[in-house]
Amino acid sequence: MTLILAIETSCDETAVAVVEDGRRILSNVVASQVEVHAAYGGIVPEVASRQHLLWAIPVLEQAMAESDVAWNDLSAVAVTHGPGLAGSLLVGVNLAKGLSLAHSLPLLGINHLEGHIYANWLEPDFEPFFPILCLLVSGAHSDLVLMEGHGRYRLVGRTRDDAAGEAFDKAARILGLGYPGGPSIQKSATGGDPRRVPFPRAWLRGNNDFSFSGMKTALLRLYQRLEASGQEVPVNDLAAAFQLAVVEVLVQKTLRATKQFPVAQIVLGGGVAANLLLRETFRERSDLPLYCARPALCTDNAAMIASAAHFRFIEGERASLDLDVYPNLRLG
Ligand code: KG4
Ligand code: ZN
Repeated sequence: MTLILAIETSCDETAVAVVEDGRRILSNVVASQVEVHAAYGGIVPEVASRQHLLWAIPVLEQAMAESDVAWNDLSAVAVTHGPGLAGSLLVGVNLAKGLSLAHSLPLLGINHLEGHIYANWLEPDFEPFFPILCLLVSGAHSDLVLMEGHGRYRLVGRTRDDAAGEAFDKAARILGLGYPGGPSIQKSATGGDPRRVPFPRAWLRGNNDFSFSGMKTALLRLYQRLEASGQEVPVNDLAAAFQLAVVEVLVQKTLRATKQFPVAQIVLGGGVAANLLLRETFRERSDLPLYCARPALCTDNAAMIASAAHFRFIEGERASLDLDVYPNLRLG
């Protein structure tokens, strides 16, 4: 049995979790900085690292207390070492090194994107069937990754410009909706009709890549035109049209990729995988078994890092105390 303590501070969530055998969550504490950054309409890196410094120890103490596990019982300490904001990653990595040294625990550095995939392993009813096609959609990434086994990844598609989450965040700013944009667009869209306004989709035919920045510009132009005409801007309809366009592209292109590779299963990961329309549309259209974790495990948390770490730990992987941060770390 393994008991792994994991720390995640790559972006704007300070998170610590304890997970048993990569699958059973004993504690999963997430302190979100959303309200701190909302005032600026987006994440301010220096503010994020300072908040991590303030919250890391209280979050760690709460996660240890809730897990009811003693320091002696832990198998290892794992930490996200990339990709992410350098200053934010450094807080987590240095905390993990201190804990590894103080409690004589093995240390592991984990890729945040790998964590998003392993969020699925935290659902009791998830059964992996490799090869898995993973759609990773977060605030900074939109990748299609073919996972051939534990720790074996091949990047088969990616965004050429904005990430899907970034597109939602920018679209919400255009429409005057709150930050983060994904949840606020989703909410506004429930009161709108996606087909009242014609909206383009960027297909980039003939490959598995995505592009979202043109759709964001289309939204801006549409918004400006409606505003200039003196009519009341149908914000909910625009939110619904934008959401549907992003979802259709993500779903269609993922399903297209399943025809090119030997895929047994599709899994979703990352904050945008919390989107209800995306989940529903995949379920309707996919012939392959499809899996996505509950929304709270799709957005940033440390339990997913502990799960990914378990599978590396049992293979004998260890990091040394000179573990560094890699803001541009990739998968596959
Ligand atoms: O994975 P995540 O929590 O952090 C990163 O690794 O970036 O993803 C955050 C992103 C944000 O852009 C946010 O707007 C988006 O995920 N997001 C959503 C939803 N919830 C979060 N996008 C669409 N629909 C949602 N329900
Ligand atoms: Zn993330």
